[in-house]
Amino acid sequence: MSAMRHLLDLCKRRGFLFQSAEIHGGLRGAYDYGPLGVELKRNVSQEWWNSMVYQRSDVVGIDTAIITPPAVLKTSGHVDQFTDEMVDSRLSKERFRPDKAPALKLIDQDKVLPISAPDKVTAKVWEQDLRTQFAKGALITRKGKEILLQVERMEKDKIVLKRDNNTTTTTTATTVTTSEPTDLHIPYYGYVDPNSNSPFLTESRPFNLMFKTYLDPIDPIDKVITTTLDAQKSPSTSDLTSTRQLVDKTLHPSLTYLRPETAQGVFINYATVQRSHPHLKIPFGIAQIGKSFRNEIRLEHAIFRTPEFEQMELEFFVAPWQAEEQFEAWRKFRMDWWRYYARNNDRIRERAHAQDELAHYSSGCIDVEYLYPWGWGEVEGIANRGDFDLSKHSEATGIKLQYTDAILMQERQAREKSTGVKETSVEVLARERFTPHVVESSCGLNRAMLALMLDAMEVVDDQGKAIPFPGEGDNNNAASDNSTVSKGVRTIMRLHPRLAPVKVGIMPLISNNKDLVELCTGISQSLRQELQVNVSLETQSTTIGKRYYRMDEIGTPWCVTVDFESLQDRMVTIRERDTGEQRRVSAEEVVEIVRDGLRLHPRGSTTSNLQISK
Ligand code: GAP
Repeated sequence: MSAMRHLLDLCKRRGFLFQSAEIHGGLRGAYDYGPLGVELKRNVSQEWWNSMVYQRSDVVGIDTAIITPPAVLKTSGHVDQFTDEMVDSRLSKERFRPDKAPALKLIDQDKVLPISAPDKVTAKVWEQDLRTQFAKGALITRKGKEILLQVERMEKDKIVLKRDNNTTTTTTATTVTTSEPTDLHIPYYGYVDPNSNSPFLTESRPFNLMFKTYLDPIDPIDKVITTTLDAQKSPSTSDLTSTRQLVDKTLHPSLTYLRPETAQGVFINYATVQRSHPHLKIPFGIAQIGKSFRNEIRLEHAIFRTPEFEQMELEFFVAPWQAEEQFEAWRKFRMDWWRYYARNNDRIRERAHAQDELAHYSSGCIDVEYLYPWGWGEVEGIANRGDFDLSKHSEATGIKLQYTDAILMQERQAREKSTGVKETSVEVLARERFTPHVVESSCGLNRAMLALMLDAMEVVDDQGKAIPFPGEGDNNNAASDNSTVSKGVRTIMRLHPRLAPVKVGIMPLISNNKDLVELCTGISQSLRQELQVNVSLETQSTTIGKRYYRMDEIGTPWCVTVDFESLQDRMVTIRERDTGEQRRVSAEEVVEIVRDGLRLHPRGSTTSNLQISK
């Protein structure tokens, strides 16, 4: 079983993650977080908030509206530019992003173009489509679910297919053009359908990723119909473009968007936050955790890419001359955070954006990437956004979104008073009042959770020895998503204790013994009340060993077992997940052991506190 499948099975079985609306057939890309998933997600976001807000004096939080008026997103550039290119595969009708699609694969010394259908029946249909529409007259054979087209030669932007001299077809297909009567050309755009290797594609076209919605009790479709029918009555408005314009105009007053990022909510509140918190001196930040929505062309890898997801974003406002240094500081800070919570530091890396990947306003951006089972994938972006955001919102609204350094201003005014000379130097004034630049850290909560689960998941044999998924440990290549581990093994989620959804599993040796259960309940109550942590009373009638393993599988760092001796001496057995070590401690000591284990110790140590430095 692949690493990802193994994890998703575990997630479903143990209540981390479910396909949303499954009993109604499900909804692609929509997931519900079960009792353990919700805890893990909350813990990841809490650790983020703790390090970004509570552990610093220069960052405050905010929670802004999801429903966003068009003016905000027009100003930010999202209405016009938040697009991906989209391509349809003519055979499978699958839609995909060309920038992420692979190049054409040829076999048999580049003379055969293989197209893989999902099954034999589909392959027959596709073969027929090729023969009758897309590659009429080409030399085509089929082997099971694989269709093979003979290739004459490849050119830079076209594939010349070999003609089947036994066919009498003279007409060319929709996508097939002929420059010479004997050649069958199909355009080659540099990529193919990722699932089938088919180069039979539509041209790519831009697609805006934002979800539109209408704040209006009247169904917008009624308005579309009425406006369209009215438009048809006049020859001057009955053409497609004019009708569309009229429909857009009718709907515009109620048009809103679901935000595609939480960041814009921060930018439009820059001035109000600053005014309400005058102690915030630049550099300072505003953090937000919340849902964002993108109508993604391709939904993939469970919660890795979904239309509805959560972001943990920090916008850090800095003076223009501080931007570079702050970008470097945040880059380091965030990498330290990742390295602290992840076990396998070799599965985390930074990737600097190439010049042509950068947004036009950005002067630097790095992605934090995790080595997922299918390869390196972005989990967070850290960007130096310049003054683009505040300048644009200021231009659009006429409201100055600037920062004034009151101390510098008072010093200048005092100098002017004593010398009687007004200071007009541009440099002096520019240091006193300026539009802040922004350094952003933007992390996907769901992607982070997926990365941290994959990172923590270890499959061990009955001796407790780790069995890697084939391909694991190879950092340059993706661990194959088809990699398998054999059966007869168990899983341990070696999550950082602060992330673990259940902190302590408490179990009576005999599950239905009233006295044992009572002592267990007492210990769980102390943990709940004193540490406000999630504990689980494990009273199933299975062996203690099986209950330990169930707790290991969900990442519970400590198990406490109460036996008959415990009733006499109030001593219980505490077992550590990672070492399997067991020791007898007093029932009262359990709270202290867990309290200490949940401190921000450096990983692997239990002595000194971690300082996530500023
Ligand atoms: N404000 C900047 C911004 O939104 P982004 O790179 O588009 O930048 C930031 O998104 C992070 O949000 C990504 O690194 C990723 O972790 C997460 N993210 C983006 N789109 C996502 C999706 N469709 N599903 C899950 N997470 C997503």
